[in-house]
Amino acid sequence: MSLKKISKAQPELFEFTSENFQKAKIEISKYPKEKKASAVMALLYLVQNQNDNWIPLAGIKYIASLLNIPYIKVYEVVTFYSMFNLSPVGKYFVQVCTTTPCMIRGANKITEICKKNISLNQNELSNNKTCSWIEVECLGACVNAPMMQINQDYYEDLDEKKAEEIIQKLLNDELPKPGSAKNRKNNAPENGKTTLLEVKNA
Ligand code: FES
Repeated sequence: MSLKKISKAQPELFEFTSENFQKAKIEISKYPKEKKASAVMALLYLVQNQNDNWIPLAGIKYIASLLNIPYIKVYEVVTFYSMFNLSPVGKYFVQVCTTTPCMIRGANKITEICKKNISLNQNELSNNKTCSWIEVECLGACVNAPMMQINQDYYEDLDEKKAEEIIQKLLNDELPKPGSAKNRKNNAPENGKTTLLEVKNA
């Protein structure tokens, strides 16, 4: 299960760059004036992108004042969704799915590898500061379980050996090729198609 950890070290202030401010205005303009609070997710995503992949409390306050809604409303959103980080994450941010399909296919072995190689606890940086990891709920790739997400990419059909290999590469500041560890195309059968043989690109 994902644990939200709020960083003790917080910047005093947060403000959008002028480029992100323009992007925020575009997001807000997609909603009727009285419903502009609906832009909250898009704006939080901009904050996270601007701030090395995590959202400081000052960023939450900033969005609340921009949307003219109570701080707690933004706080509720940011603490609910696992894609928002409330403390610094590594350059390589590893999210291991531990929901049932991944769990019965060995996700707990992958979390043990993370504990051994990255950090004993979730949400902590590795000794060389390149990686951090957390457990997350289903990432929608159950058919290729077990899997993990690293930054924006999925790494699927993992086993202990492959997961360890990937994490060692990350610790050496190298991003391995994403996709299936068994070279499956998307979620096609390992030994090629067995149905829809006559359909091209199926
Ligand atoms: S259960 Fe892991 S991706 Fe769905």
